Amino acid sequence: MYNSCMKILAIETSCDETAVAIVENGVREIVSTVSSSAELHGKYGGVVPEIAARKQLEYIIPVILEVLEKSALKVPKDIDALAVTVGPGLIGSLVVGVAAAKSLSLAWNKPLIPVNHLVGHIYANWIQHYDLKEVAKSLPKLPAVVLVVSGGHTDLVLMRNHGDFDYLGGTRDDAAGESFDKAARLLGLGRYLGGQKLSEKASECKENTLRGQLPRPMMDQENYDFSFSGLKTAVWRLVEKEKYPIDVVACEFETAICDVLVAKTMKAARDFGVKSILLGGGVAANIRLRSRLEVETEKLGLSLYLPIPKLCTDNAVYIASAGYFCGKEKPLDKIQANPSLGILDLG
Ligand code: KG4
Ligand code: ZN
Repeated sequence: MYNSCMKILAIETSCDETAVAIVENGVREIVSTVSSSAELHGKYGGVVPEIAARKQLEYIIPVILEVLEKSALKVPKDIDALAVTVGPGLIGSLVVGVAAAKSLSLAWNKPLIPVNHLVGHIYANWIQHYDLKEVAKSLPKLPAVVLVVSGGHTDLVLMRNHGDFDYLGGTRDDAAGESFDKAARLLGLGRYLGGQKLSEKASECKENTLRGQLPRPMMDQENYDFSFSGLKTAVWRLVEKEKYPIDVVACEFETAICDVLVAKTMKAARDFGVKSILLGGGVAANIRLRSRLEVETEKLGLSLYLPIPKLCTDNAVYIASAGYFCGKEKPLDKIQANPSLGILDLG
């Protein structure tokens, strides 16, 4: 697509992370920095868009400067292009990254590629950490079924090729990560981004004596959609009314979500006869989900690609990779932040 050693500097500011990275050929991370305002939102029990936007403005220049310094590259000579997340996300946060990327593009006279954040999550699977000569052998085999599970989205997508996606289904209400976070709050495990804490609590459970007590919404339906909002009330009933131990409820909750996510993903893989399954998004860090998918893909003889945990949560490495493989540079006046992009919109 580009020259043989293409370096992209990417900026990601869709929510409460300010992230900048430089990636070579879409697969090799040269340098990556992430600053987060997550702690500030903790006491409010959810992200406060106004605070997130102000912090983006405060962090963006120091993070860009840190990345340039760490990379020891000569700018603008050594940078071939820029990429930036244009959506979905919080508008006040997105505009900070988009404005910064446009400014660099003008100042350095380099092309700018708009990137969809959700497509970015998919490309965490393309980041390699070894000899570039070996890369071709280990890149995900397409077509693939991709499950993107983040705080705001749960999407099942058929990926035929780079930039060639079909939407298969998604959540009709709460996203998987949102559901983890709400359940964590009900279980007293954290007021903000409690998904990981819930998972840690679930791992303390010796035996899931509640197996099957929570619903597996839409699991046996002939579609690729999800619905997780009803699980909250069911979790509340088990803890508040029936006083079951927190670790067992956490385990049954995590098992219920994984049962549904895995069943629908495997159904899509069978129905479309794909070569592999790819996982992306913050919930892709969930150990139970990863190991359940490993078992099921092995049964079907498919390849499974899982991003390394640090690339599951928001960062700019996969934005650079998505920009390299399926982005198209656009004139600066055509690049705008768009908070409500769907996974099929390329930006
Ligand atoms: O992709 P992400 O970093 O942000 C969005 O773009 O939304 O995803 C964050 C979500 C949160 O809901 C967080 O609780 C969840 O991912 N998460 C987890 C785990 N780690 C992060 N959920 C379940 N198990 C985990 N280990
Ligand atoms: Zn994300």
